[in-house]
Amino acid sequence: MSINRLASACDFHEVKEDELIHVDCIEHTYPDGTSSLHNVCFSLFKGEIVAICGSNGAGKSTLIEHLNGLLKPSVGRLVVLQHEVTQKTGIISEVGVVFQDADSQVFAPTVIDDVMFGPLNKGLSKDEARKAALDALESIQAAHLMKRIPYFLSKGEKRLVAIAGVLAMDPKVIVADEPTSDLDPVHSRRIESVLVDLKTNYGMSVVIATHDMDLAARLADRIYVLAEGQVISEGKPSDIFYDKAILKRAGLEQPAAVRIYESISQDHSLVDAKPVKEHDLIEILSRVLQGARL
Ligand SMILES: Nc1ncnc2c1ncn2[C@@H]1O[C@H](COP(=O)(O)OP(=O)(O)O)[C@@H](O)[C@H]1O
Ligand SMILES: [Mg+2]
Repeated sequence: MSINRLASACDFHEVKEDELIHVDCIEHTYPDGTSSLHNVCFSLFKGEIVAICGSNGAGKSTLIEHLNGLLKPSVGRLVVLQHEVTQKTGIISEVGVVFQDADSQVFAPTVIDDVMFGPLNKGLSKDEARKAALDALESIQAAHLMKRIPYFLSKGEKRLVAIAGVLAMDPKVIVADEPTSDLDPVHSRRIESVLVDLKTNYGMSVVIATHDMDLAARLADRIYVLAEGQVISEGKPSDIFYDKAILKRAGLEQPAAVRIYESISQDHSLVDAKPVKEHDLIEILSRVLQGARL
């Protein structure tokens, strides 16, 4: 069930056993005085894909930068892999963040050097780091890029290399900030399938930040809606995407499958299935067209 957090009161909650990231009531104000997060609570559980949805400036990237310890909460509590994050905590390598701007993340002379950078920094020998890098590139079918010069890669290829760089650190969680926002449809689908594969076949937990509700509908098991630095709703995609008021408040649109389903179901009595994914909608419509009893 989705919840609204409109009240200013904010409670700390117990950290559950299968909770990889637990955020209670964090506040963040940038040095120039811009308040970017207020009373934010967030959880990530094992094996799920969570989407943080919000329009530009909602606070998605600021929240993401807390998840690997890049930013520390001045107010509130952050617990990552059952360890409390304090001002003294360094970068948490088990939470790998793929930043929106791949150019800032991919910088070594060749792809393999770039993907080896993290493991070498972590103290692995050159051979171990090379193996970790190759394994990471292979796991996302990008080993063919290993000798390429990052500067000349396409945006989609660069994003893959950034993901490999994060995977080479053997994280438990992968966080991707606007993972497909600047990519064409073919490369977007490639990145999407990599993220789903990491969850399905590698048991990783994934967080994405996006304002693309179709992307969130395709990938997410659970959604957080952020507006003006606050979580205004959290829940299943089938609840969130049918809540027009919340989406409007966040400056977001319903996914296409939801819009189509809602407009058709006004004239036809369709089963109350609340599809959010295109293929679920197609299945419902095919059954309607075949005259099957719903
Ligand atoms: N380094 C910064 N200094 C000051 N304000 C910032 C900084 N980075 C982001 N902000 C502000 O914080 C708010 C949230 O930004 P951000 O987390 O980047 O949102 P989103 O990723 O959802 O677009 C915005 O008002 C933005 O202008
Ligand atoms: Mg952002």
